[in-house]
Amino acid sequence: MSLFEVKNITVAFGGVKALNDVSFGIDKGEIFTIIGPNGAGKSTLFNVISRIYEPSKGEIYFENQNISKTKPHNISKLGIARTFQNLELFENATVLQNLLLGRHIYKKTNILSEVFFTPSARKQEHEYRLKVEEVIDFLDLQHYRDTLINGLPYGVRKNVELARALCTDPKLLLLDEPSSGLTNEETIDLGFWIKDIQSLLGITIIMIEHDMSFVNKVSDRILALNYGKILASGLPEEIKNNEDVKQAYMGE
Ligand SMILES: Nc1ncnc2c1ncn2[C@@H]1O[C@H](COP(=O)(O)OP(=O)(O)OP(=O)(O)O)[C@@H](O)[C@H]1O
Ligand SMILES: [Mg+2]
Repeated sequence: MSLFEVKNITVAFGGVKALNDVSFGIDKGEIFTIIGPNGAGKSTLFNVISRIYEPSKGEIYFENQNISKTKPHNISKLGIARTFQNLELFENATVLQNLLLGRHIYKKTNILSEVFFTPSARKQEHEYRLKVEEVIDFLDLQHYRDTLINGLPYGVRKNVELARALCTDPKLLLLDEPSSGLTNEETIDLGFWIKDIQSLLGITIIMIEHDMSFVNKVSDRILALNYGKILASGLPEEIKNNEDVKQAYMGE
């Protein structure tokens, strides 16, 4: 049984179908990569999963639950986290502050208990801090924990965006172009981290990527989109040799 499934998803902007009858399923523990030329509909798919965009047709299932009508803020509570193609961090806050905010969705406390700082609120605050420190260690961010985001190099910011998603303790992680803008060395490190997120943390990953050598190194399976439609799906080796995929990229 799939951990995650989209069935016949169609998204239209005016006359343009950004996604056209897209269906696929992902097993628990997979690294599943979505490739495709610019404008293929990749980020639109993430925006549908995060419930930012409303599909005109189709359904989404997570752990066998239909989440097509789930409110956006409840998606993260179910265990789905994402990073954005254009980083969405608080520029004038530190790394630590950004990560503590990422954890916010898990607060079970209410306003009153926070105002009076009851034992249960204190316990939760302590748990968030532990999780955040764990992620800071995991992604080697110790050195930057008290630095403002706007003072950080791009590669480190991307890492903070990834860290923020991990702080919500996701079961499914959506990464929109994690390697874009990174140096070769940073991309190599990212590959190791993504593999570690899969194997050590047991998190299932859907990744949108353009860097095909990176894609082939880390992906278990690949789905190729073009003009909102599925062009091909399969193992990296199969996609590499797929004529339709080669054709789509040559036109770019
Ligand atoms: N909010 C929106 N309003 C109108 N059109 C949109 C909107 N979001 C996406 N689109 C259109 O949908 C199509 C798919 O866009 P999308 O951002 O999903 O592409 P992508 O595959 O992520 O491309 P890239 O590789 O450039 O990030 C494009 O034609 C885009 O212009
Ligand atoms: Mg995109």
